[in-house]
Amino acid sequence: MKVTAIGTGYVGLVTGACLAEMGNHVMCLDVNPEKIRVLQSGEIPIHEPGLLDVVRRNVAAGRLQFTTDVDVAVQHGTLLFIGVGTPPDEDGSADLQYVVAAARSIGQRMTDYKVIVDKSTVPVGTADKVRAAVKEELVKRGLGDMAFAVVSNPEFLKEGAAVEDFMKPDRVIVGSDDEQATLLMRALYAPFNRTQDRMLVMDVRSAEFTKYAANAMLATRISFMNELALLAEKVGADIDLVRRGIGSDPRIGYQFLYAGAGYGGSCFPKDVKALVKAAADEGVPLKVLTAVEEANERQKRVLVDKVVDRFGADLKGRRFAVWGLAFKPNTDDMREAPSLVVIDELTKRGATVAAYDPVSMTEASRVLGPRDDVVLVDRADAALQGADALLIVTEWKEFRTPDFDAIKSTLKAPIVFDGRNLYDPKLMKALGIEHSGIGRGSIATR
Ligand code: NAD
Ligand code: UDX
Repeated sequence: MKVTAIGTGYVGLVTGACLAEMGNHVMCLDVNPEKIRVLQSGEIPIHEPGLLDVVRRNVAAGRLQFTTDVDVAVQHGTLLFIGVGTPPDEDGSADLQYVVAAARSIGQRMTDYKVIVDKSTVPVGTADKVRAAVKEELVKRGLGDMAFAVVSNPEFLKEGAAVEDFMKPDRVIVGSDDEQATLLMRALYAPFNRTQDRMLVMDVRSAEFTKYAANAMLATRISFMNELALLAEKVGADIDLVRRGIGSDPRIGYQFLYAGAGYGGSCFPKDVKALVKAAADEGVPLKVLTAVEEANERQKRVLVDKVVDRFGADLKGRRFAVWGLAFKPNTDDMREAPSLVVIDELTKRGATVAAYDPVSMTEASRVLGPRDDVVLVDRADAALQGADALLIVTEWKEFRTPDFDAIKSTLKAPIVFDGRNLYDPKLMKALGIEHSGIGRGSIATR
């Protein structure tokens, strides 16, 4: 099939590349000429495991192309995926300007039947707005009767595992009230559904809602565990043992129960805010989800609270090593990363920071900019030099079993604030390292 991906970011590029992998002919469009230049040169603009291979293979096979030419892109596909950003507006609601602009650009150019697929995470009712924008443009061109469909097909991939998630989806949600469009979507996704039919077809509004409900549920689990972790520290329990204890109940399950330095990324924070705002606008305040967001804001500061408890509120003259800048491992994405809050809170109190991340250093220098109070170093051990303590913010594999002797001998004093519970508190005690995890109260306080 002929497919166009409008917006070639994390979602658009993965969607385009993985659909090409199944034999479709895909054209990826972006308004950012630099992104397209990088892609046309045989590289990819993001760090995403396995993606470069898929892109190169399909470009070589002539199934995957990149362009900034909107005419070419709209002509190319029968299925046009909109995967542009939906960032938070000032009031928390999803800013739909990029989605609507993409819809208009389709309406201004289409000359035959198109299925317009909302892949971006968008609030309930957005398909109607997309349909109205396309129609308006068609009417302006005297083509008001031209047939087209708008379907919702939210994306559930996780960064760092995006290719795997797209190729082997838990489910494919399609919201459609157009029979022909549904058939085309079934055909498109059939190769991803081989062992079992994972496609769930529903009405458009329920599909749009499903995406927010999924992210809200996952964020809720994390904030809930983070709150329990705070309590565990006070009462002398270990949240990691509690996690195993409750996760063994299949009604609860093990996933997304890790307490840590708060959730970040381009999805949970913005989607939680957008759902809270949308609900408030409908007169249905979501009390649980409002608390989820508040708890996460507090959680991003928990590591610094621990530093302040240990060193006092005035951190002038102190230096801290920070390991992990990306919002999670296996990505270079720093959108809403807890590391940014940690660095901000430390430097606000007068400290300097030496920070290291295995893949986000380029992104970090772009996001943090040049500044005197933060130095970016290219090795984990270099960050430790002359530091008063080590803070772990992202659970990269290379941090899991470090050279503890080097940590002890390089830091001014052996103190580790473990924001992702990488280390066994008992081992740390045995090694003579002062260790403070998240919710590891059984060793810390009793
Ligand atoms: P992104 O910022 O990485 O990419 C968006 C791209 O769209 C950018 O490259 C931008 O230049 C381009 N763009 C904007 N307007 C355009 C237009 N009119 N025509 C062509 N290109 C245009 O964003 P992302 O992380 O890929 O997220 C995209 C959407 O998918 C969001 O709604 C997000 O919530 C959702 N989503 C993201 C993830 C994720 O893990 N990143 C997962 C699921 C869903
Ligand atoms: C999320 C959703 O998982 C995905 O389905 C959706 O399509 C996009 O948003 P992503 O943001 O890429 O994916 O990463 P995810 O693995 O969900 O992690 C999000 C944040 O939650 C990270 O900051 C991570 O560190 C944190 N997290 C995750 C926890 O703190 N504890 C956990 O148990 C799991």
